[in-house]
Amino acid sequence: MTTRVEELEEVEGASLDPPYDYPAYRSTALRAPKRPFLVLPAGLEARSAPVFGEERLGQLDADLTRQHPGAPLGERIVVAGRLLDGEGRPIAGKLVEVWQANAAGRYAHSVDDHPAPLDPNFTGYGRCLTGPGGEYRFLTVKPGSYPWANHPNAWRPAHIHFSVFGRSFPERLVTQMYFPGDPLFPYDPIFNSVGDPSARARMVSHFDLELTEPGFALGYRYDIVVGGRRPTPVDR
Ligand SMILES: [Fe+2]
Repeated sequence: MTTRVEELEEVEGASLDPPYDYPAYRSTALRAPKRPFLVLPAGLEARSAPVFGEERLGQLDADLTRQHPGAPLGERIVVAGRLLDGEGRPIAGKLVEVWQANAAGRYAHSVDDHPAPLDPNFTGYGRCLTGPGGEYRFLTVKPGSYPWANHPNAWRPAHIHFSVFGRSFPERLVTQMYFPGDPLFPYDPIFNSVGDPSARARMVSHFDLELTEPGFALGYRYDIVVGGRRPTPVDR
């Protein structure tokens, strides 16, 4: 089994994942490794990823609109898709976690001091396990764009953070899902730190009429691919 790094080396010049240090995304300089990588013990790639027990999930964990007494403000959306391996095979029974800003672009987190309103009916965290076909589904509200301090007048495109494990430890993936046609794409250094246009496109969800709930919520489809030659890019 080849690792993600080996696959990258095989595809000469490919930029499937963003560089560890991407100057336009300033905080990557603080996180980028300063020392050579350690070589992992042989066999680690075959070790199974953690398994999260179904009994630890609450009934409303995947419905971010029903975690408080009232309904959150904003545009209700269904976000759904499949977790797939590099050959397109579904990965069942794995934990999918999401976190996001509210409809006004504010995180319910102590370090977010963006002067937009918090929503007492929205925390912005959800989780679920993938089904037999690798499928997952969340009901939430569309997150707002928000400003950040990376550079003057910097704004993030609307996005939802995703964390998944594939079948093994090297298939750990933390990424961001975007919405189609966002006008902020050309200005966002995080989105553009993924150099390959087709890899960038794999971070963008698709509007899907089949996923909508008539009269209630719009639907966006987002498949997550771990491993292989067309993986979903990671977030640095
Ligand atoms: Fe974010």
